[in-house]
Amino acid sequence: MKGMIFTEFMEMVEATWSLDMVDAIIADSRVASGGSYTSVGTYPHEEIIALVLALSQATGIATPELERTFGKHLFGRFALAYPRFFHGMDGGSFQFLSGIENVIHAEVRKLYPDAEPPTFEVEKGKFGLILTYYSPHPFSDLAWGLIEGCVAHFGEDIEVRSEAIHGQPGAQTRFILTRRG
Ligand code: HEM
Repeated sequence: MKGMIFTEFMEMVEATWSLDMVDAIIADSRVASGGSYTSVGTYPHEEIIALVLALSQATGIATPELERTFGKHLFGRFALAYPRFFHGMDGGSFQFLSGIENVIHAEVRKLYPDAEPPTFEVEKGKFGLILTYYSPHPFSDLAWGLIEGCVAHFGEDIEVRSEAIHGQPGAQTRFILTRRG
């Protein structure tokens, strides 16, 4: 997983808790990298799972909630780091998220051949958008937070529901986005 995800996670932990908390979760998770991440590096995705678990144990906050909060934070950071993805997005989060597979993560795959972004199937419904998350990694709650971060970025009033999917190979979660009002 790309180093930027790790450096942003550490920055969020430091800003929300403290630098001591950063040191504590690195020690507790016993990550092989020793916690010295750079944004241009690539690290095993298991390390972020171990760090989130250590943070959960230290704070008493459940891991899904931590992942979702991190996802919201991460979207804001993506918006600053990749402004070109936001040009011409007059259609707001539905337009942006409709391009998550063929525009955003397609570009990520080109920029970083070692990246493994997830796959999203996008369906446009009468009342909203349905995103189905496919990944070999267990990051549904991160995806949920990223979607909520996207909605917040565009300042829209959209409900984002998450439903676990069973019995469909590779598919983990369906996100149903409905405009309120
Ligand atoms: C400007 C916006 C975005 C950029 C630049 C971006 C880029 C990336 C990058 C670089 C990774 C790491 C891949 C790796 O290193 O293996 C990643 C992973 C991921 N992205 Fe995005 N992303 C964006 C928006 C989103 C949004 C809106 C969602 C949700 C719909 C999303 C869902 C995910 C998830 C869940 C992962 C974790 C990998 C996995 O689940 O297998 N991303 N993204």
